[in-house]
Amino acid sequence: MLTFAFHTYGCQMNVRESEAAAHALLDAGFALAPNEELADIIIVNSCSVRGKAEDKALGKLGLLCSRKREHPNRIVGLMGCMAQRLGESIFQRVPRLDFAIGTRCTERIVQAVNAALAGKQTLALRALHERPDASSGHVVDGQFSAYVTILLGCNRRCTYCIVPDVRGNEWSRPAREVIAEVRVLSKQGVKEVTLLGQSIMNYGLRTPVFTNDDPPSPGGYVLPFPRLLEAIAAIPGIERIRFTSGHPAGVTPELIRLFAEEPKLCKHLHLPVQSGSTRVLSRMRRGYTRDGYLEAVARLRHAVPEIAITTDIIVGFPGETESDFQETRSLMNAAEFDNAFIFKYSPRPGTVSATWEDDVSEEEKSRRNQILLDDQDVRGAFRNQQLIGSSQRVLAEGPSLRNKSKWSGRTSSNKIVIFTAPKGLQSGDFIDLTIVRAAPQTLYAD
Ligand code: 5AD
Ligand code: SF4
Repeated sequence: MLTFAFHTYGCQMNVRESEAAAHALLDAGFALAPNEELADIIIVNSCSVRGKAEDKALGKLGLLCSRKREHPNRIVGLMGCMAQRLGESIFQRVPRLDFAIGTRCTERIVQAVNAALAGKQTLALRALHERPDASSGHVVDGQFSAYVTILLGCNRRCTYCIVPDVRGNEWSRPAREVIAEVRVLSKQGVKEVTLLGQSIMNYGLRTPVFTNDDPPSPGGYVLPFPRLLEAIAAIPGIERIRFTSGHPAGVTPELIRLFAEEPKLCKHLHLPVQSGSTRVLSRMRRGYTRDGYLEAVARLRHAVPEIAITTDIIVGFPGETESDFQETRSLMNAAEFDNAFIFKYSPRPGTVSATWEDDVSEEEKSRRNQILLDDQDVRGAFRNQQLIGSSQRVLAEGPSLRNKSKWSGRTSSNKIVIFTAPKGLQSGDFIDLTIVRAAPQTLYAD
């Protein structure tokens, strides 16, 4: 039996799509390889969000294809955002690549593998305005947490972002289809779902996702996104709901009420801010100001004091001055982020900002990046210290990667907790723990 392995870069949506593709291959009679070295088929799922992400995938493909000398029958394929972006030209860069599959036709994977086995190269691309095939939930044995994509693409067109070009226009899956998928997952033992979408709070705003046949919302929610969250919370067996990523425009009174009232909705929001300078935000075309963002954070924290808020930041956007940067620093302090992912600006072909001079030097980007990381370390440690002595319900994940004698799990606020597992504890069990120690990114419990 031929075996396969995936090498996935990028966001959770890619992780989910690798899972779906792996499932299709299993259904077609292929088997998961014990490791990449032994795999007959290796598929790289790629990300285009920054130049570095693409360089990594290209490097990996080059390496895999050069090893075809030792593994002449090995098949190497590419899927994801970079395949969508580069199209045909990927075969000039990586001539020995067997196939490339775009973001809206992941289901072509089996066909592409079979064609490669017959010696044929495949490029599978679907126009981005075309509706992708419906996905369905599938899990592996013992899986207690699953990703569910509810919204594809993005219409926001932030000036730096490649996503609309590689994932197309926003398209929301019908609520019924999503709810049916979560029901299936729950029957298979899933307790936690993470809903995915690049601009997830826009769910159902462009195309109707509920029909007149759908039952009305018991909580009286009118906006499609809170209404969907409420419907998922009503599914027996689902104990935790997460979603990503947010935008301040989606921090509506309805969503805030749901955070406050629905215990299954985890107390965590990933709310990328990108910059703390209104001037830069406007050049990024983010659709909010510094004050608008901080106001959304304040409303959330007021209604849900225990909520954790995390963010993404871009440093060195074209024209970012020292004073813009200092505004980002001070916004991060004011927002009291629990965690932050900081990225150095990378011009992406075809985006608006790529036509502007990339005028902050690499050195300066690194300096700003490091300052924000150091600030966040101090802030994260401080935020986590406030939790010492508190009791936290933790979803146990399994033995910790660093220290096998300990286990790790997550709080509702998505913080990692390291603890000693009592006898009989299994992955996917809930356990109440008292926090005794805190580090910037980790909590420790007895
Ligand atoms: N350069 C650097 N970072 C970027 N991101 C998106 N586009 C770029 C870019 N061109 C970051 C944003 C986004 C995260 C997923 O990646 O912070 O939220
Ligand atoms: Fe990367 Fe964005 Fe594509 Fe996710 S959607 S893989 S972050 S480019």
